[in-house]
Amino acid sequence: MRMRRKKWARPELAACPYFLKDPSRFRGAMREQFPRPDQPLWLELGCGKGTFAARLGADHPEVNLLAIDIKSDILAVARRNIQAAYHEAGREVDNLRLCAYEIGLIHTLLSPEDVVEKIFINFPNPWPHTGHRKKRLTHPKQLVLYASFLADGGEILMKTDDEPLFRDTQEYLTQWGFDLTYVTWDLHQSGWPESPMTEHEEKFTAEGIPTKFLAARFRKGCTDVRIAEQLTRYPKFAPPVVPEGVFRPEIL
Ligand SMILES: C[S@@+](CC[C@H](N)C(=O)[O-])C[C@H]1O[C@@H](n2cnc3c(N)ncnc32)[C@H](O)[C@@H]1O
Repeated sequence: MRMRRKKWARPELAACPYFLKDPSRFRGAMREQFPRPDQPLWLELGCGKGTFAARLGADHPEVNLLAIDIKSDILAVARRNIQAAYHEAGREVDNLRLCAYEIGLIHTLLSPEDVVEKIFINFPNPWPHTGHRKKRLTHPKQLVLYASFLADGGEILMKTDDEPLFRDTQEYLTQWGFDLTYVTWDLHQSGWPESPMTEHEEKFTAEGIPTKFLAARFRKGCTDVRIAEQLTRYPKFAPPVVPEGVFRPEIL
């Protein structure tokens, strides 16, 4: 998603009360960054312009939602969309937080104490070339990181237009011990409860391309055991060690 640089983006984010600056300092206390810390914590990874997060957060005051993207220009657009959706719903933005972060290092943002119930990954970059596949947000390298903070029974929910990514993701999840609980090649024709449309979903749907969707469950004592076994076979997929203070993936 290429965007022209927006002069207003960083000042608007800097002034935004629900944009987390230097977010890794909240690692282990992410729930406390919301006024109702006992509510379930959901994540959206690669939220882009935030249309999905805006709708989901506005429709679900009973959960807390952390929406993450690496690009601050896009997050600034997301902020405007979130403002508009909550305004329309007649609500304050009290259950949503935004942050700029490299998802490849998400284990330095969230710890096992942060206990995430759902992870939404919508239309992630498909990275079709073999040498680039480890950059996929559903690659085993990433699943290992998500497993470190998912609740027992926690879910990963993915939407995509891309068939090879969809097939490969099912394989990654199964091989790394997640239970695939729902798979459809056409979300809008399936019986899955309504899910807010994302930017990319609107575009692909208008072009007649069906949205593929899956849900997968993390099970303690099962998925984690399988991950540990797989890591002995594929040690290069272990979480990258980031020396304290050397590299900080925050943007603002
Ligand atoms: C193809 S767009 C999809 C946007 C939105 N989810 C949608 O469905 O319309 C992918 C988004 O993921 C973000 N992204 C990709 N890789 C990322 C990473 N490693 N860390 C953080 N954000 C990332 C990009 O900046 C972009 O906004």
